[in-house]
Amino acid sequence: MKQKVSPAIVVLLIWYAALNAQPFESLAPTPPMGWNSWNKFGCNVSEILIKEMADAMVKSGMRDAGYNYIVIDDCWQVGRDSAGNIIADPERFPSGMKALADYVHSKGLKFGLYSCAGSSTCQGRPGSRGYQFQDARQYAAWGVDYLKYDWCNEEGQNAKAAYKTMHDALQACGRPVVFSICEWGENKPWEWANGIGHLWRTTADIRDCFDCQINWGGLGVLQILDKQAGLEKFAGPGHWNDPDMLEIGNGGQTITEYRTHFSLWCMLAAPLMAGNDLRTMDDSIRDLLTNPEVIAVNQDTLGFQGFKFIDNGDLEVWVKALSGSEAAFCFLNRTSQVVDLNFNWKKMGIYHFSIAKNGFNLWKNNYRVRDLWRHKQIGTTKENLKTKLAGHGAILVRLSAIDF
Ligand code: GLA
Repeated sequence: MKQKVSPAIVVLLIWYAALNAQPFESLAPTPPMGWNSWNKFGCNVSEILIKEMADAMVKSGMRDAGYNYIVIDDCWQVGRDSAGNIIADPERFPSGMKALADYVHSKGLKFGLYSCAGSSTCQGRPGSRGYQFQDARQYAAWGVDYLKYDWCNEEGQNAKAAYKTMHDALQACGRPVVFSICEWGENKPWEWANGIGHLWRTTADIRDCFDCQINWGGLGVLQILDKQAGLEKFAGPGHWNDPDMLEIGNGGQTITEYRTHFSLWCMLAAPLMAGNDLRTMDDSIRDLLTNPEVIAVNQDTLGFQGFKFIDNGDLEVWVKALSGSEAAFCFLNRTSQVVDLNFNWKKMGIYHFSIAKNGFNLWKNNYRVRDLWRHKQIGTTKENLKTKLAGHGAILVRLSAIDF
């Protein structure tokens, strides 16, 4: 027999949902920061690993530096019960997802999961197709704060419609959830995903190499960077281009290359999802990932994505407008040889950063130049910036007005 729900209860439920609703855009006013299991651990995820990573996030100072999401990627799920409810692997997650989310929350962190718009995930686990609202309700009951939603086995669905369905399910689940679209840029999500997700992948998966392209898919840092040029106009507070997660600390690149990877991702206002083993990283990696001056470029509240300002082939200059009429400049050496940099700010001043409309103007004003990796003032824009750039290296500086 069907039961009727009284109108009073419906009104109460709507009122309760409205009370708890947080405006969509406000969930990611700056690019999300956190840690995700995929790049280092693949399918080898478990509650022990996640708890240890949450502990390490706090102990290493990563949480205090701004990293707050702990996200379990593919392979946590094994099937559905007879009612269609998604089941977490009982061997790897014996205490269940609710207990794990509670643990992560108790550390002052947020908890994220992965699913897929297809009927199965990229690793062949159950996807959410046909179960979007049921899954979203389950995530909310567990205490999920972030959902990464993939695009394998999509079976010819319309991408915008598929992601909108999960967006609607998350909006209805009664809990604020950051929605990370992982569609690899196949259907130009930057053109339609603002308002559907908070971030959207723009490319195939990142690989732990600086300059490489793998036949069967996967791109190095430079190859991903090249695909970001021109996308800057689509990003802003609450909606970010996602050039994929960080490989810093996973062993495939030099510390110089990792510093460049981080500098560029910060310039791009990219989500900063660490992908290394936080329990065992050495001090050089920890210092790199937690550099407050570099992170401040990424987290700047203006939400401006850096753009390619000069392309000399081997040498590129990227610029990111910052709040307070400031700007960050990143000088990138794409070659493996050392190059001499001799940069005349005044000559560059003829270019107008009207795109940013933040008041930064090299033509009219002089600026103090601060090296954000060395934590040092290195001159002003009245003089040329003269220095050596290491092979695959980058220099990241912040320009702030000189007080007279
Ligand atoms: C895809 C995604 C990756 C990761 C894997 C998991 O390749 O792009 O980021 O989530 O699936 O199977």
